[in-house]
Amino acid sequence: MLQKNTEKFHKIITRLAKSHSATREELLLLLKNRQELGQEQREFLFSEARRNATRYYGNKIYLRGLIEISSFCRNDCFYCGLRRSNGNATRYRLSEEEILTCVESGKRLGLQTFVLQGGEDSYWTVPRLADIIRKIKKASPTCAVTLSLGEMTRSDYAALFEAGADRYLLRHEAASEGLYSKLHPKEMPLSRRLKALKDLASIGYQVGSGFMVGRPFETIEDTADDLIFLKNLAPSMVGIGPFVPQADTPLGLHCPGTSDETIFLLAVIRLLLPSVLLPATTALITLDRDGYEKAVLAGANVIMPSLTPQTARQAYKIYDGKASAEDTVQQIEIIGERLKRIGYEISLDRGDAKKTGEH
Ligand code: 5AD
Repeated sequence: MLQKNTEKFHKIITRLAKSHSATREELLLLLKNRQELGQEQREFLFSEARRNATRYYGNKIYLRGLIEISSFCRNDCFYCGLRRSNGNATRYRLSEEEILTCVESGKRLGLQTFVLQGGEDSYWTVPRLADIIRKIKKASPTCAVTLSLGEMTRSDYAALFEAGADRYLLRHEAASEGLYSKLHPKEMPLSRRLKALKDLASIGYQVGSGFMVGRPFETIEDTADDLIFLKNLAPSMVGIGPFVPQADTPLGLHCPGTSDETIFLLAVIRLLLPSVLLPATTALITLDRDGYEKAVLAGANVIMPSLTPQTARQAYKIYDGKASAEDTVQQIEIIGERLKRIGYEISLDRGDAKKTGEH
């Protein structure tokens, strides 16, 4: 990289780390020069990101128990293996009892946050979901329930919040209309996704959003716009992970995103939103065996081990090659050992989001 750019880069990171903001031009410059960055520059970015994460969360990494409740989906997103047009997908739906058993086994391991994730499955009506949320909350009143079940109406979100749900994950996927429409069918407008995110926040949920890294058709301008979107949305959580092609989808022949870019963006997001809850996602671990360590050393502070029963876990095939080998006890042991080696440790606290400025 040119000396001039190195200096500019250093200045942008320094400002980002201090003021937690950057202009679109500055973000574009970072994104454009990412691959030419020297080791020293990258390490500077990561150490600033780590410093910010540590300021809020110390050396603690929060665990969330992920329960993939259904692989049925009424949507037809071009990138996702669960899309309704995928005739090769294995469909399953956990029973209420199975879900409660997953929660129980997570509780025995000390987990205090349960993420119910699934496709948009018409079986899981609001009354059914509300009922199971109430049951989880009754059995474990201090735990947090996170939902990741796609788009719903405001009144549906409100009813689930009323039933006890605390948090909601809904990635915006792409802030630019152009890119969003290349990844989703016509009947899924970006406006509906944005309204859903607004509704969730106004109801009182801790909201998570995010996007896939290395999406087909994306430009660096799109990624800069996603970063600006996230900065303005100021969510409690941001989930990003590499795009991983799924062979039975229309985008199945496109190249995957990279671990390098994902880690770079994790660090930039940590600097833009210093107190955000930022997971090292399964998609990243799928692409990079050292993903946990690299993500944590770039400012990530959440890991989501799976509590989904093994057979269902295999069938929940959003993308190909999904990492899903060990049982939950082993997964947590491995995570703990790996974190220890880099000076971090697991926290079993509920891990609610902190506001920027509140340490
Ligand atoms: N690769 C990586 N992530 C994917 N998702 C869906 N399909 C893929 C894929 N092929 C992500 C989307 C969605 C989340 C549940 O999983 O961003 O929001």
